[in-house]
Amino acid sequence: MRSTLGAPLLLLLLLAAGSDGTGAEMDRKPNFVLMMVDDLGIGDVGCYGNDTIRTPNIDRLASEGVKLTQHIAAAPLCTPSRAAFMTGRYALRSGMASAGRAQVLLFLGGSGGLPASEGTFAKRLQQQGYTTGLVGKWHLGVNCERRGDHCHHPNQHGFSYFYGLPFTLFNDCMPGEGSDVMADLQVTLRHMAIILGVGLFTLVCVRASGLLEVSLWLLVSLFLISILATAVWYVPFKLLPTWNCIIMRNQDVIEQPMTVETLPQRLLGEAQNFVRRNSDRPFLLFFSLAHVHSPLFETPAFAGKSRHGCYGDNLEEMDWIIGKLTETVDSLGLANNTLMYFTSDHGGHLEDANSRIGQSGGWNGIYKGGKAMGGWEGGIRVPGIFRWPGRLAAGTVVDEPTSLMDLYPTLKYLAKDTLPDRLLDGHNLMPLLEGSVKRSEHEFMFHYCGVYLNAVRWHPPGI
Ligand SMILES: *[C@@H]1O[C@H](CO)[C@@H](O)[C@H](O)[C@H]1NC(C)=O
Ligand SMILES: *[C@@H]1O[C@H](CO)[C@@H](O)[C@H](O)[C@H]1NC(C)=O
Repeated sequence: MRSTLGAPLLLLLLLAAGSDGTGAEMDRKPNFVLMMVDDLGIGDVGCYGNDTIRTPNIDRLASEGVKLTQHIAAAPLCTPSRAAFMTGRYALRSGMASAGRAQVLLFLGGSGGLPASEGTFAKRLQQQGYTTGLVGKWHLGVNCERRGDHCHHPNQHGFSYFYGLPFTLFNDCMPGEGSDVMADLQVTLRHMAIILGVGLFTLVCVRASGLLEVSLWLLVSLFLISILATAVWYVPFKLLPTWNCIIMRNQDVIEQPMTVETLPQRLLGEAQNFVRRNSDRPFLLFFSLAHVHSPLFETPAFAGKSRHGCYGDNLEEMDWIIGKLTETVDSLGLANNTLMYFTSDHGGHLEDANSRIGQSGGWNGIYKGGKAMGGWEGGIRVPGIFRWPGRLAAGTVVDEPTSLMDLYPTLKYLAKDTLPDRLLDGHNLMPLLEGSVKRSEHEFMFHYCGVYLNAVRWHPPGI
């Protein structure tokens, strides 16, 4: 009896020791620092051909590592692109692609978000013993049924630490910058409220002056309708900064509305602290910047310094932030055991400009189109840089098609995660990055805008 029980028990103990995240094997698991800029265009970066902007820190990552020239976002807008990035699958598969006009989450109070049943690379790494953190923008929902259930929250999707914007930075967060949410509907509702109010006022005057008979019921009904129209306009739209522009630390709202001016420094500080706190164990940090989405920052140290106005200043500030985080990784002696990744969620927002500051959206270089355009390169082709000094050869350039969805299987592979999983649309990038193969495994890539297929990229075998 004893001997028959003994063997399985020993086996169980061995298995447990192998998977509980301790021991020498764990030491060899690399750290991951994934840096995603919001709305950054491929033409905004020095090492992708822009010779008038200064991005020395990003350029340095590329010169010390691998630069991908055909790195493709799975969607041309934030929510679906980030859903695909997190899950390694097209957004259509997780229900994060929309058939309607609004293709991103617009109201934090809404019930939409990345379903709890979805797998994310953060969950997978967590299961492998990683400490996982998200600092910055999420934009994949918060609640399902009621306020506070936090079913879509980063903490439920594999990030044990979250500090940042459950929504996104957008114009409504800054007074005087206009609105990013259904501006035409807002204008219509506002006009309706004004017309009703003026009509009511006129009728009250007419009645008071005794010019005409105006029934009291008509006035009362009109009054109620005016109140309703004003509420329908005011509550969802004018209170947007309160609803949407918030900062959370894990499950708590710590700023509402948030202070935009100091956000860059605070996000950087949080990211650096996360790395410092976890320098002695395998960690995943997803640093999802508020830059370079509008409204633009006007940080004194960068204002007026670039050759491209306020937008250029924001680019150079963003590059500085990337440099600071890289410096933190390097100064802790973690460089050789840390895979650093730099990208954007999709192409630059070409049409974004205003009369006061001019350009306020990104530049996609030679590629046509931009943000919100799934069928043109400018909307989906983004910078993609990997740096890992101990493992990836410096100065490598890979021209093969790759996807942001490739991160999921790549991280799984490096974390030695061999547990069963669903079918993924991404492929492990390590063979390409290390140069052991020359061809990408992507034969077809599907370029969606919402649920609509706008284009397909074919990379025929053997060419
Ligand atoms: C460099 O980036 C800025 C900012 O987006 C842009 O205005 C400029 O046209 C770009 N220059 C080149 C040469 O691509
Ligand atoms: C990191 O790796 C590089 C290349 O293999 C090596 O030259 C360097 O000495 C390593 N640095 C440390 C701190 O181990």
